[in-house]
Amino acid sequence: MKLLDQVGREFSGYNLLESAKRLVDRKPLQCSLYVTDRCNLDCSYCTEYDNSQPHPPLEDLKAWLLKIRALGTMRIALVGGEPLTHPDIVELVRYCRELGFATSLTTNGFLLTKAKLHALEKAGLQVMQISVDRMTPSPITKKTFKTILPKLDFFKNSKISLHITGVLCDDTLPESTAVLETGLARGIPTEVRLVHADPTSFYRVQRGSPAALKNFIEWMIQRKQNGEKIHTNAAVLDYQLSLLNGTPTDWTCTAGYKLFFVSAQGKFWECSMVKTDKHIMDITPEDLHANYRKKPCQVGCGVYCAVSTSLLIENPAKVVGKEIISRAKRVPALMRSAFTSRSNVLPSDARSPQHVNGSGDEAPPAKPHESVVSSTY
Ligand SMILES: C[S@@+](CC[C@H](N)C(=O)[O-])C[C@H]1O[C@@H](n2cnc3c(N)ncnc32)[C@H](O)[C@@H]1O
Ligand code: SF4
Ligand code: SF4
Repeated sequence: MKLLDQVGREFSGYNLLESAKRLVDRKPLQCSLYVTDRCNLDCSYCTEYDNSQPHPPLEDLKAWLLKIRALGTMRIALVGGEPLTHPDIVELVRYCRELGFATSLTTNGFLLTKAKLHALEKAGLQVMQISVDRMTPSPITKKTFKTILPKLDFFKNSKISLHITGVLCDDTLPESTAVLETGLARGIPTEVRLVHADPTSFYRVQRGSPAALKNFIEWMIQRKQNGEKIHTNAAVLDYQLSLLNGTPTDWTCTAGYKLFFVSAQGKFWECSMVKTDKHIMDITPEDLHANYRKKPCQVGCGVYCAVSTSLLIENPAKVVGKEIISRAKRVPALMRSAFTSRSNVLPSDARSPQHVNGSGDEAPPAKPHESVVSSTY
């Protein structure tokens, strides 16, 4: 890939013009749609799946999507349960793109095949988050690089932007460094985030020693400042540190307004923790705007996509500025690698580890969807 393309890629994807509109108008930036409650795994920390429920029918999901778009929503994050268990997931992605949504999908990756990835790419999927918690399975989580490493090859020439997200808790902490290093070494934006409580404020797994967690977050902040592709934006890294330090961050939650969730039964939820009985089909722009307020559940909130969007709305210059500075630090490394690769006599497949996500020699062009609001979920 040409050096200039690579440098451009580091600055691409802010989607600034589009996002900027949502910073000043009253319309939502993102909706997370639960395409199903069903899941093929059983992660101990998770309260977001329910195998007693059937998949929602495609026509219902399409009607909800139309309504979500009519509210002015720019981006759709397809979540679950496990979205790849839904038999119509490819058609759903295609429909999201037809409606003009920037579209991402979050998956545990177990059902991902090369053919499925190609079908999703052809349908127009732009961003995929694969969840990876550890290198090897444990009783708490099976989402590991043992399963995902062999699948990274699928992304080599894919237009889909991949990032990796793990959960940080007592069980995963000993392997979190390896998870981060494994993703970053392959050019994949990677992050691990503190485990959050369930809607009753109960932690289903041990959170881990605060000192060790703090060390880990501080180490990610340092690496981010060095320009490495830590997927979490700097504001949310600082926020997680403040949670561990017990020093509250002043913010106003925009969940239910700038971002909101729609359940697999079509119910409007402010976020994954705060659920309402209203149906999405009955929601008005006024209902959305009424949710722009400080909320009692803000203390200790672990819905990082909501924190990220809210901090961006509150102080766009600070959030975007820090991200630009961090990405700018990647440019000298790109120049060095472009220089050395010219004199590198090794064939590309002899160099390891293999890079994906357009960071290899045959990378696809810059993708316009990577955003400073980094969390798809
Ligand atoms: C609910 S899952 C749905 C998508 C898919 N099944 C997956 O695991 O990627 C979405 C994301 O939430 C994360 N998650 C679930 N429960 C969590 C918790 N208690 N704390 C932090 N992250 C959590 C998962 O690891 C995953 O990255
Ligand atoms: S985190 Fe994802 S994979 Fe794990 S149980 Fe929940 S929905 Fe399933
Ligand atoms: S503060 Fe957190 S838990 Fe409460 S509504 Fe906002 S995102 Fe949801």
